[in-house]
Amino acid sequence: MTLKAIYPGTFDPITYGHLDIVKRAAKIFSEVTVVVMNNPRKKPFFTLNERLEMIKEATKDVENIKVDSHSGLLVQYVKEHSAKVVIRGLRALEDFEYEFEMALANREMYPELETIYLMTDLKYLFVSSSMVKEIAQFKGELNKWVPPIVEKRLIEKFQG
Ligand code: PNS
Repeated sequence: MTLKAIYPGTFDPITYGHLDIVKRAAKIFSEVTVVVMNNPRKKPFFTLNERLEMIKEATKDVENIKVDSHSGLLVQYVKEHSAKVVIRGLRALEDFEYEFEMALANREMYPELETIYLMTDLKYLFVSSSMVKEIAQFKGELNKWVPPIVEKRLIEKFQG
């Protein structure tokens, strides 16, 4: 039986924290699709194509990780792809309220959906896309937090 999971997010850009989560998920599920979506609360720094390209490059070594995008509701995507599981990463307490709200709203819209939370490795507990953009802006070291393709794109974008 194939057990598919959807890993949605803004991924602006993908960090080692996100990669840690998706690789953990790929060990549990037969297929995990990273889906780049719109968060109405955020205005992305990277275009959709740039985000997709970075994720594809960073996950190319793991066969059961797929990459896609969607511009509507998460539950629509999940239903259309005959999946029932959404993966989200949990870092510190500050994530909890928003995650709780989102998981319950999604379940209300699609009762069969389960949102499963995975915890990142301790070393990525405080890594976020906003943090890496800030480090890049002030020319700090990025290689601990993001894969080489993302480091390259961040440098290009801030220099350009
Ligand atoms: O990486 P993020 O920004 O925390 O991811 C949030 C995301 C994109 C998963 C969330 O905003 C989302 O699902 N957006 C699509 C619209 C939707 O379905 N919202 C859920 C209803 S609360």
